[in-house]
Amino acid sequence: ADQVATNITWHEHSVNKDDRAKLNGHKGALLWFTGLSGAGKSTVANTVDHLLHQKGIHSFVLDGDNIRHGMNKNLGFSAEDRAENIRRIGEVGKLFVDAGIVTTTAFISPYRADRDAARALLDEGEFVEVYVKASLETCEDRDPKGLYKKARAGEIKGFTGIDDPYEAPENAEIVLDSDSKGIDELAGEVMTYLEEKGYFS
Ligand code: PPS
Repeated sequence: ADQVATNITWHEHSVNKDDRAKLNGHKGALLWFTGLSGAGKSTVANTVDHLLHQKGIHSFVLDGDNIRHGMNKNLGFSAEDRAENIRRIGEVGKLFVDAGIVTTTAFISPYRADRDAARALLDEGEFVEVYVKASLETCEDRDPKGLYKKARAGEIKGFTGIDDPYEAPENAEIVLDSDSKGIDELAGEVMTYLEEKGYFS
């Protein structure tokens, strides 16, 4: 019985999302970058994070560096593992948003259903899907890690865009044209969207 009473007291004094938003001067949001390998997701997401930070906004990036090398290092690239990767990132992203942080995620997230499941975890307006759109040709030309070359040579099986699907977003809040625009311009477009929609001033 003591335990129950303790829990009730704890709940009554809990800090809610609005309290945190008031303290921070802005709400949390999940900026969900999706696109092919080499499209520029990570670079644009990190640039946006930098710009947010410069404006005094509490921000954080979830990407391969801290997720696939850590929390999700037991996952590969089967459809099942990708779904679990995205599910966990969605849940962690939700926690960050609850903590009041403008969070960017940069994962291929090739399946529409997995992205929609992440969206469904969040409140209206909190999830902003950012499609970093680049043709396969552009990504293959860039091939920053030489992975397309390996995939073409059959050394990597099930590589997104080569022999594994990428389901492009149909209703992304933001579509970035990475074929023809540079990183700073694309990051600027994300910042403009957020300002115009009143995420912060
Ligand atoms: S997913 O689909 O969202 O779970 O993928 P993600 O966690 O973003 O990981 C993608 C990066 O992993 C490398 N890699 C592969 N990508 C696609 N398909 C296969 N089979 C694969 N194997 C390894 C690749 O470097 C991706 O890096 P990015 O940053 O997207 O270029």
